[in-house]
Amino acid sequence: MSVPHASPFEPDLRREYERLAQLAGGLAHELRNPLSTICLNLEILKEELADARTPRERRMEQRVRVIRAECEQLEQLLTHFLQFSRGLELSLEPLDLSEVVREFIPFQLPQALAQGVEISPHLASGLPLVMLDRAQFRRVLLNLTLNALQAMPAGGILEFQTFQEHEHVVLVVIDSGQGIAEKNRERIFDLFFSTKPGGSGLGLPTVRKIIEAHGGRIECESEPNRGTRFRIKLPLATPQPPG
Ligand SMILES: Nc1ncnc2c1ncn2[C@@H]1O[C@H](COP(=O)(O)OP(=O)(O)OP(=O)(O)O)[C@@H](O)[C@H]1O
Ligand SMILES: [Mg+2]
Repeated sequence: MSVPHASPFEPDLRREYERLAQLAGGLAHELRNPLSTICLNLEILKEELADARTPRERRMEQRVRVIRAECEQLEQLLTHFLQFSRGLELSLEPLDLSEVVREFIPFQLPQALAQGVEISPHLASGLPLVMLDRAQFRRVLLNLTLNALQAMPAGGILEFQTFQEHEHVVLVVIDSGQGIAEKNRERIFDLFFSTKPGGSGLGLPTVRKIIEAHGGRIECESEPNRGTRFRIKLPLATPQPPG
């Protein structure tokens, strides 16, 4: 696992952190194999109970279904954790951030439409290029969009803005959803912090890790019942000449 904030770590502390992270990654990996055996057997049991007739058999079928769902959730958590804990190997290319966002939006339209969310893009044209790993940046967009959509179950507006600001290109993602309670605002980037039933709390830590690996910064502002705004700053691929 790479260290998200290297600078505040003393070398000893940093080594200890890396050792612990490695241990946690190894543990997650080891847990996954027996878990998938359990899941597989539960699936078989579920199929065997599919034509349950007696009330007792139906109760058993129901219980197997619940355990199966919980197992699946654990499997997903471990997969996300492993994805997070693996070091990031960026494959950078000079890209136009507006293009990357424009390409991404159509994939989200069906879900947005289904829940009454309007997607509103304000993407500057002719932006200076930024060095991006396209696949990793799509994970950033996906996590922010999923969070935004989950915060607007009864519809709303999801806005994407891109523009240049001095030596940076900026992406702003704004939703008109439920917002974040003040007591939680400090914690949203913490590993495993989630207010959602079944949430793994790995989305935003992953986003921040990817952005920082690109030399960028991410900030969040939010107001309960009004909405949330994430602002990402990325350095230009080629610093602009002064003037
Ligand atoms: N756009 C948003 N609107 C409101 N709350 C948000 C938003 N984005 C993040 N949050 C809050 O931050 C928490 C952490 O988000 P994060 O994406 O890391 O985890 P998650 O969405 O709960 O789970 P998952 O790992 O499935 O993404 C969320 O549980 C939620 O409370
Ligand atoms: Mg999330």
